[in-house]
Amino acid sequence: MKRFVFALVAFAMVACSTAPQMTKEEKEAYKFADKLIEKMTLQEKLGQLQQFTPKKGVITGPAGEKRDVELAIRQGTVGSFLGVKTTDELNRLQKIAIEESRLGIPLIFGYDIIHGCRTIFPENLGMSCSWDIEAVEQYARIAAEETAAFGYHWTFSPMCDISADPRWGRVSEGAGEDPYLGAKIAAAMVRGYQGEDLSSDKTIAACIKHFAAYGAPQAGRDYHTVDMSEVMFRNRYLPPYKAAVKAGAVTVMSSFNDFMGVPASGNRWLMHDLLREELGFKGFVVSDWAAVHEMIAHGTAADGKDAAMQGMLAHLNMDMAHGDYITYGEELVKEGKVSEKTINELCREVLAVKYQLGLFDNPFKYGCHNHDEVMYRPENLQVAREVAAKSMVLLSNNGVLPLAEKTKIALIGPLADAPRDQIGAWQGFGEANHSVTIKKGLEDRFGAKNVIYVKGSDFRAPIKGGIEESVRAARKADVVVLSIGLGYKESGEATSLTEITVPEAQQALLDAVKKTGKKVVVLLGTGRAMDLRNEIEKADAVLVTWHGGTMEGPAVADLLSGDKNPSGHLTMSFPYCVGQAPIHYNMKTTGRPRKSPTNNAKYSSRYMYTPNEPLFPFGYGLSYSEFEYSDLQVLTPEVELGGEVKISVKVTNKGKYDGEDVAQLYVRDVVAETTRPMRELKGFERFSLKAGESKVITFEVPTADLAYCHRDLSFKADAGEFKVWVGADSTAELEGNFIIK
Ligand code: BGC
Repeated sequence: MKRFVFALVAFAMVACSTAPQMTKEEKEAYKFADKLIEKMTLQEKLGQLQQFTPKKGVITGPAGEKRDVELAIRQGTVGSFLGVKTTDELNRLQKIAIEESRLGIPLIFGYDIIHGCRTIFPENLGMSCSWDIEAVEQYARIAAEETAAFGYHWTFSPMCDISADPRWGRVSEGAGEDPYLGAKIAAAMVRGYQGEDLSSDKTIAACIKHFAAYGAPQAGRDYHTVDMSEVMFRNRYLPPYKAAVKAGAVTVMSSFNDFMGVPASGNRWLMHDLLREELGFKGFVVSDWAAVHEMIAHGTAADGKDAAMQGMLAHLNMDMAHGDYITYGEELVKEGKVSEKTINELCREVLAVKYQLGLFDNPFKYGCHNHDEVMYRPENLQVAREVAAKSMVLLSNNGVLPLAEKTKIALIGPLADAPRDQIGAWQGFGEANHSVTIKKGLEDRFGAKNVIYVKGSDFRAPIKGGIEESVRAARKADVVVLSIGLGYKESGEATSLTEITVPEAQQALLDAVKKTGKKVVVLLGTGRAMDLRNEIEKADAVLVTWHGGTMEGPAVADLLSGDKNPSGHLTMSFPYCVGQAPIHYNMKTTGRPRKSPTNNAKYSSRYMYTPNEPLFPFGYGLSYSEFEYSDLQVLTPEVELGGEVKISVKVTNKGKYDGEDVAQLYVRDVVAETTRPMRELKGFERFSLKAGESKVITFEVPTADLAYCHRDLSFKADAGEFKVWVGADSTAELEGNFIIK
C-alpha cells in the first residue's frame, strides 16, 4: 500500500509539470499565487482547499460538518463558502477573512445560479428548446450581473451533463440529449457568466459540472453507477464539458457517480489526465457536495482520511461541505502520503482564480451595488419573457390555438396559479412573490372577467369538490386551459421517477372537463420529458411550458393569444412510454435494425408491443404557421478532409402567421471504423419568416465537426460517404449525400 501511495505522489508531480501553456493573465495569477503560498502555513494552504456552508446557509445535500465557521475563517482553515443566504452575511464573513485572519486572503463564495438569480428564466431543459444560443448567453449575462450584485463570485453552472433518461430528475438542469447542441449551449453560458473580464463586478466564475457523465446513471436513479465505454463517453458525453473548458470556464465540479469503477472525485484520469493534460483546463476543481467523503460509501476509501488522500492525489482542489481535506490534510502530509508540493499545486490554482476575479484588489467589490437597481430590471424581465416564450414547445394543435380576442377561458389546474412551482428547481434566489403566474398573464391579456380560475386538484391528490367546480367553470367558458404536470418538487436533484405520466388526480381533471364538450388546451409544466399519450389523445392542443420562470404567465399569454408564434423545439425526445428510457434520436442501428416502424419481422431490434420511436422526437415543435423545407442542395458533393461541407435548403412560411422556426441539419457517416449513430445533429439555424415568405439557408459544416472516437481512441473525421438531412426535426426526410475525400 505504502509503495502504491509513493508511486501516486511521484506520478502526481511528474504529470503536473506537463500542463499546457498558460495565457499572460494566467501566468500573472499563478505568479501572484506562488508568492503568497511562500508565506502560508500548511494549515492555511489546506484552508484554501476547504469549502463549507455556514450554519444558517442553504443545505443542498445531506447535512455537512457543523463547524464554528467564524473561527475557521480567523484561523485561515476555510477558503470558500456556498449557500450563504444574504448579501449582508456574505460581506460580514468576508470582512472577518480580510480583517481577522493572519494573511487576509479573501473568501470565494459560490452558489447554484442555474437559471437565474432573482430574475428566473425557464429551467435549463426548457431554455435549450429555444435553440437560441444568443438568448442563452444573454440569460447568463443577466444572471451574472444579478449574482455579482448579490455578492457571489461564482456559480455552479453550466450543467453540461448529457442525458436521455426522463426518469432522472436532473435532466431539467441540462440542455437535453444532444452533444452538439449541448456544447454550443455550455459555451454560451460560460461566455455569458464570465464575460470578457472576470475581474469585472458584473461577471462571475462559471463551474462546469458534473464532471463526468453524471447524466447517465443506471436506470435513471440519481447518484447511481455510471458505466460506459470510453468511446461512448468521448462521442456523446464529453463534448459539452470540452466546449465549456474551451470557452474558458475557470472551475469544474466533480460528479457524485463513479466512472469506469472509480468515483469521479478520486478519479485522477478524469481530473488530471483528461481535464488538465488533454483539455488544457487550468482552473480549480471543487467536489460536489461531500463527494470526497462519499468515496467511503462507494467502497473505494476506508475512511475520511483515505478519501481526502485520494481526492488530493486525483487533483481535486476543493472539498465541498464535508471537511475531510482540512481535518486530515496535515496528517497526510506529515505521513508523506501527500506531498506538500501537491498541496501547493492545488492551492495555487484556487488562489489564481481568486486573483483573476479581482478579489485581492477589492474583496468587497461584489455585493455592494444598490440591489434594487440591478435585480428584476424591467428590460431583463422582458428578456426572461421572450426566452420563456421561445422555450415553450407546441406538441399538438387541431386549430384551437391561437385563441381569439376576448375568448372566455376556464383556467384550471395546479400550475395555473403556482408562483413557486413556475420558478422551478434550483431557483437561485428567485422569489415566488415576483412570479407573474399564468392566471395573471391570461387575465392581463384576455381581461380579468374572461378568466375563470379553478385549481381543481393538487399535483398528486384530488381536492374535495375540485372536479365539480372545474366542470362548472368549463361549462361557463369558451375553452378550457388546463395547466397540469409536475411541480418544482418533482424536478431537479433527487427526484428520480419510474412513472413519467401526468399524475392521476390531474388526469381526472382532463377527463372531467373533456366530457363537457368544450375544447381543451393542455399546458404541460414539467422539468423532464413525459409520457403524454393520454393528453395528446384527449386534448385539442398541448403546449409544453416547462417551469417557465418569473415571467411564465405573460409568455404563455403571448403564445395563446397569437401575439407570438410558438417556435420551441424539443431537445429531449418525449418517449412513447417509460419502458423506452433512455431514448434518444442519435442511437445506433444495431446489426438487426427494424426495417420500418411497422415491420414486425421477429429477429429485428424492436419491442413486441410498443413502437421503437418516441411519441415526439428530438427537434420536434409546431408553430401556428407551416414551414416547408425544399430544394436541398449539397453545394460541395466532394470535399477534402479539413474542408467545409456546404448545404443549402429553401424554407417557406406557408401559413398565415409570421413566425420563427429552427432548421436542423443531420448527418450520418455511412461506413465508419466504429458503429455510429443513425443521425447526428451537425448544424441548426433559427430563422424568422413573414407569412408567405421564403428564403435559402446555407449550412457550413467543417469536416472537423464530423470527427468521432476511433478504436485507438483518436478523435478524427474519416474520408468516405455521408448522408445528410435537413428539416424541422430529427426525422427530417429531405436527403442528400456528400463524400469526404
Ligand atoms: C449538487 C450540485 C450543486 C451542489 C451545491 C449538489 O447536491 O449536485 O449540482 O452545485 O449541491 O449546491
